Amino acid sequence: MRKKKIIVTGGTGYIGSHAAVELINNGYNVVIADDLSNSLAGALDGIEEITGIRPQFEKIDLCNKKDTASFFCNNSKAEAVVHFAALKSVAESVEKPLSYYRNNINSLINVVEQMELKGIPNLVFSGSCTVYGQPETLPVTEDSPVKKALSPYGSTKRICEEIMQDTFNSDKKQQGIVLRYFNPIGNHPTALIGELPRGKPNNLVPLITRAATDKTDELKVYGNDYDTPDGTCIRDYLSVVDLAKAHVAAVDRLIKGENESDCEFFNIGTGKGVSVMEIINAFERATNVKVNYSIGKRRPGDIEKIWADASLANKKLKWKATEEIEKTLVSAWRWTQHCTEKGIL
Ligand code: WQD
Repeated sequence: MRKKKIIVTGGTGYIGSHAAVELINNGYNVVIADDLSNSLAGALDGIEEITGIRPQFEKIDLCNKKDTASFFCNNSKAEAVVHFAALKSVAESVEKPLSYYRNNINSLINVVEQMELKGIPNLVFSGSCTVYGQPETLPVTEDSPVKKALSPYGSTKRICEEIMQDTFNSDKKQQGIVLRYFNPIGNHPTALIGELPRGKPNNLVPLITRAATDKTDELKVYGNDYDTPDGTCIRDYLSVVDLAKAHVAAVDRLIKGENESDCEFFNIGTGKGVSVMEIINAFERATNVKVNYSIGKRRPGDIEKIWADASLANKKLKWKATEEIEKTLVSAWRWTQHCTEKGIL
């Protein structure tokens, strides 16, 4: 039987490449569109080595309407699009708000417009828990109020959700699922795909692995005077492999027509809050490697604590985060060692 085709935009990136692996392993025919602005085509080698299948790839700027139209012309038989392609640095979005609004919103508009024109019915969107800001109550559910984002990056995620809600309806036979990610960490256990460290990362775990690699590099813990048990911020850290599997569950749900509305939202997290110090201690325990760190000032824009109520995804997507955090941290460490050996880092 002919495999169902899934377009994965941003599919050579960190989460996109992991999702491509899981989609291929679940029998889908994956076509990747990526502009390689924050990834390398070498990710295709890793995907091929892991799955035995090299996905079709096209280098494309999804903000270019003409190129996007011709890409979708060649892939009009796709059953779904999983849309990862976006700029994703919170800090960079504060410095360059217009490029974030232009890139993240125009690319989604071009994709949705082409899906409508070509009759591709299903979209899975890479959402973010940043839309919740600092929730009043925890764990945060999908019904928790969406707030003004604390960064242009977060605003683009909220605006994209609204674009999907306003354009998806059964008359046009289009439907979508927004996966609101919490904090993805780690890498595929083979260390063949991972987060390309373009410049200095912003996120905690890549900075921990750097501080563990280069003894001259010191991790700054952004504040230990928060209202939390050890004074450091709390987040819901989940394995990127578990996160990737949630995309397969979402694609399956839409293709089988099991969705209960034209645009559904799911929190994709472990349901467990973990502090910065707990992550550092877990990393040192799991890898037996010391992390150089010192306590610094709070980072502007950081929220104090957030973790997911993921019960809706558990129930409706039949998806649950299963990987132990120590195992995930070891995978992050192995990826850093792989990048160091390859001279990427
Ligand atoms: C985590 C914690 C920092 C660096 C991320 C993504 C964002 C979105 C939500 C998907 C915070 C602390 C960090 C450092 C530190 N994900 N920290 N020292 O801010 O939760 O945002 O998740 O859309 O895209 O960026 O993640 O990894 O930056 O920070 O103490 O050098 O680690 O204060 O408490 P954050 P993060």
